[in-house]
Amino acid sequence: MSVLVVNGGRPLAGSVAVRGAKNSVLPILAATLLNAGRNVLHNCPDLRDVESAIRILRHLGCRVTREGETVTVDSSVIERWDVPDALMREMRSSVIFLGPLIARCGRACMTTPGGCELGPRPIDLHLDALRRLGVSVEEAGGRIVCEARHMEGRDIILSFPSVGATENAMLAATACSGVTRIINAAREPEICDLQEFLRKTGASVSGAGGSEIVVVGGSTRHDTEHRIIPDRIETATYLCAAAACGGDVTLCGCEPEHVGTVTSVLSEAGCEIDIAGRSIRLRADRPLRAFAPVRTMPYPGFPTDAQAQMMACACTAQGTSIFLENIFENRYRHVGELSRMGARIRVSGRVAVVEGGVPLHGASVRSTDLRGGAALVIAALAAEGESRIGDVHHIDRGYQSIECVLSRLGADIRRENE
Ligand code: UD1
Repeated sequence: MSVLVVNGGRPLAGSVAVRGAKNSVLPILAATLLNAGRNVLHNCPDLRDVESAIRILRHLGCRVTREGETVTVDSSVIERWDVPDALMREMRSSVIFLGPLIARCGRACMTTPGGCELGPRPIDLHLDALRRLGVSVEEAGGRIVCEARHMEGRDIILSFPSVGATENAMLAATACSGVTRIINAAREPEICDLQEFLRKTGASVSGAGGSEIVVVGGSTRHDTEHRIIPDRIETATYLCAAAACGGDVTLCGCEPEHVGTVTSVLSEAGCEIDIAGRSIRLRADRPLRAFAPVRTMPYPGFPTDAQAQMMACACTAQGTSIFLENIFENRYRHVGELSRMGARIRVSGRVAVVEGGVPLHGASVRSTDLRGGAALVIAALAAEGESRIGDVHHIDRGYQSIECVLSRLGADIRRENE
């Protein structure tokens, strides 16, 4: 088990390149099942979740190789249509394999993802969407068995713009006869990236980025080559780190438009933000100022995946900041750990009130989940003294060598094996 040891209180300076988006690469890896061919994916981060998706593809019969940031998937031969329970447990978003497996094999079998550190993780919207397309879905004893004889395009109206359900519906719809319209679709940039990839395989998909996506079922036969978009949550995380510590940091190879809600809160907090093409420069003098309430919303609203990191910034800001978590029920588990560092935060249901301006001090804490863990790293960098952050495996799911990136920016952070 490894821990991150941080000696805080240093400003950050320098530049880092943002990697490919975890939440884009996962559905696109699943989508490689569709074209029974060769898929070359560039800009794939080397993360635990990506490794889990690759293991699922290999289990199914694909040949997968990685050379640096390029992953090649040959999906010519598929031997199975099940995802083993161990891999489902490792990564709950493995449910994204449901749509492509049904499209390719006409059936799929996996265990239900169950709850996770963010609270219950239902997949009712995914399954309802598949049923609309003519898939028979049986759920019993924690297993889901899907079968499709004839799939027909229909209108799917999502009661909530779920990212995963939109992706599963898009992927399954490629195998339907006729036209599928996904109404109230998620609008996240990762959905646009998936559309881009699917088009390269020959699929007819349009509308991503808006609330209605149209898929005309048919052939997806072409070999593909695709570059994954930059990770907007990694971008947000390193911006928050620079803001909380003070300093002068430039993030290169990012997509500034995708983090507009995050940079506007950081500007309000007193950071100077300069955008030039695909880079963002952030200059901050401590202390930050408190900001107007942050409400997490589906894209283009403020991302729930950046809420915890922004809360770490709020702890270092003068004044009171308020957060409203509207996406997940249980996304304040980092609060207890931030309090160990001296943060003053009160939580009531979906609301968290942060009284900033109280100096943070180093402490021994544990990552509660991926983004909560990133928030602890940010708080530890901003705190005086030494912190030890345990359960780093959560952080490794979404950040490649976080300690190396932050060290390059001048942070005193190292990984120790306990
Ligand atoms: C994706 C992201 C995750 C991000 C989330 C919200 C990936 C791999 N993960 O997760 O990092 O935090 O979007 O931006 O891309 N819901 C239901 N029924 C369903 C599906 C979802 O009730 O069938 C609820 C969820 O419990 C949650 C909300 O809808 O409260 C949003 O979930 P969703 O958009 O589906 O998130 P994920 O796709 O799981």
